[in-house]
Amino acid sequence: MQRDAGLRGIFSSALPYALFQNLVGASRSRKWAVSHCLRLKGGEKLVDVGCGPGVLLDYLQPDIQYLGFDISRNYLETARHKYGARGLFLEGRARDFVQDDRFQRADHVYCSGLLHHLDDDEVLEVFRFAHTVLKPSGRFTAIEPCFLAHQGRFSHWLMRQDRGANVRYEDDWKRLACQVFPSSHTRVLTRLIRIPYIHIWIEGGRGSTRRTSNNPEST
Ligand SMILES: C[S@@+](CC[C@H](N)C(=O)[O-])C[C@H]1O[C@@H](n2cnc3c(N)ncnc32)[C@H](O)[C@@H]1O
Repeated sequence: MQRDAGLRGIFSSALPYALFQNLVGASRSRKWAVSHCLRLKGGEKLVDVGCGPGVLLDYLQPDIQYLGFDISRNYLETARHKYGARGLFLEGRARDFVQDDRFQRADHVYCSGLLHHLDDDEVLEVFRFAHTVLKPSGRFTAIEPCFLAHQGRFSHWLMRQDRGANVRYEDDWKRLACQVFPSSHTRVLTRLIRIPYIHIWIEGGRGSTRRTSNNPEST
């Protein structure tokens, strides 16, 4: 569930959202995710679930076949205006596209900052969507806020103010991911952005996935 009441509602418009993202250093984190998590070689088909205004495209090689979808018409219009034919930006949820031919045989399904807006059933729908559309060698990656068992009080409080009402603990993320991707891996990430947030990197594949242990704190 996305909480858009009060001040949080400002971020449903693309411009304040982009300004806030710049302020917290999201550009550095996207660059890091593209090089460490996506590890694209060129020419791949990438599906961005909950693509927002499509900003990931700023960090991708021009030959990546980019397909994004989101429930926010406002963000999608911004994406279409800014990126035009560089990507396809569709309105809907995972369940709307699971049988859509355009998404099949994807090399990568990516979501960043989406799943903590969703309840468990809808998170599983996104995982199942990814599992269905990925080619056998394809990979699923998610980067989401994650509570720690022991975490600074300010950091915990700040993360509880998030627009996404379903920030989970590491075990809960793992439990969900393993239901669809039994060999998935998770990594906890600190200092991905400038404010004291903790993230989890979830990686799954239809086959086995490569283990990596990079943390942006050390780069
Ligand atoms: C924090 S934003 C992240 C946007 C983008 N991935 C990024 O990194 O900038 C979360 C996005 O998820 C979208 N969203 C929320 N629920 C969704 C759903 N059920 N299916 C698809 N998108 C959804 C919101 O509209 C919003 O664009």
